[in-house]
Amino acid sequence: MEHLPGEYTERVLRAAGKIAWDCQQLADSTIDPDLARILHVGALLEDDTVITVRHAASLGLSRSYDLAQFLPMWDEEEAEHGRALHFLLDHQRYTPPEAAPASISRRRRALSHLPLAAVGRLPQTPFLFCVLGAAAEYVATVTYHELIKRVDDPTVVQLLRDITRQEARHFAFFLAAAKHRGEALSVTNGRIARRALAAMWEPIGVPSLGRPVWERLFGEWMRDEGFVERITMMDRVVDSIPHLQGMHLMRNFLKDTLSRAA
Ligand SMILES: [Fe+2]
Ligand SMILES: [Fe+2]
Repeated sequence: MEHLPGEYTERVLRAAGKIAWDCQQLADSTIDPDLARILHVGALLEDDTVITVRHAASLGLSRSYDLAQFLPMWDEEEAEHGRALHFLLDHQRYTPPEAAPASISRRRRALSHLPLAAVGRLPQTPFLFCVLGAAAEYVATVTYHELIKRVDDPTVVQLLRDITRQEARHFAFFLAAAKHRGEALSVTNGRIARRALAAMWEPIGVPSLGRPVWERLFGEWMRDEGFVERITMMDRVVDSIPHLQGMHLMRNFLKDTLSRAA
């Protein structure tokens, strides 16, 4: 099975570990209710990692050395992000955004119709898993960066910085893993992967919230040209992966969002 060189994976693992946070300090912190609503989504997405990891296991993706090493560490780090954010939010006054519990991501819906063992054996599956991971971690990194700029409380800023540093490391791993697998993929399989990605990609948060709630929540950020520019850089990242040049996933999503808002 395709995997990254062992030394690379081991280097990633050496930097791993749960973030440290102080209950008392976090309980005394205050954040703006609008930012709390966005962090609420962040906390739910952090919780979601455990489902993704289980999904990866059922697809047999953890048979490859790099993912077998990375996924448990990733799961642990994201779970700790979730715990810290939930703790912070439990001490804030805000109205959580109304989630759309019935909405299931297109990714999960698409996969649920396929025989998992067979899908796991397709060469595109681990490739797409890593591409989706890189895209999600990129968006998470940019979003937490944005929150750091808008939050005043120093304890919360420190927490968000610690989280962002780990998201950036997750992003680097998934990107390297996706590129490595992409290089080994045939032109035909690359084309299939490309079509599948165009059909199933959505920015993080959209599947769990539903698009109208997502658009209301991030409406103000979407009117900020600098943020839109930074988030659209995701397309350059995806572009750098073999077989995925010129997909413009984020640009197309935003174009659609902005035209509906107009
Ligand atoms: Fe996280
Ligand atoms: Fe992450």
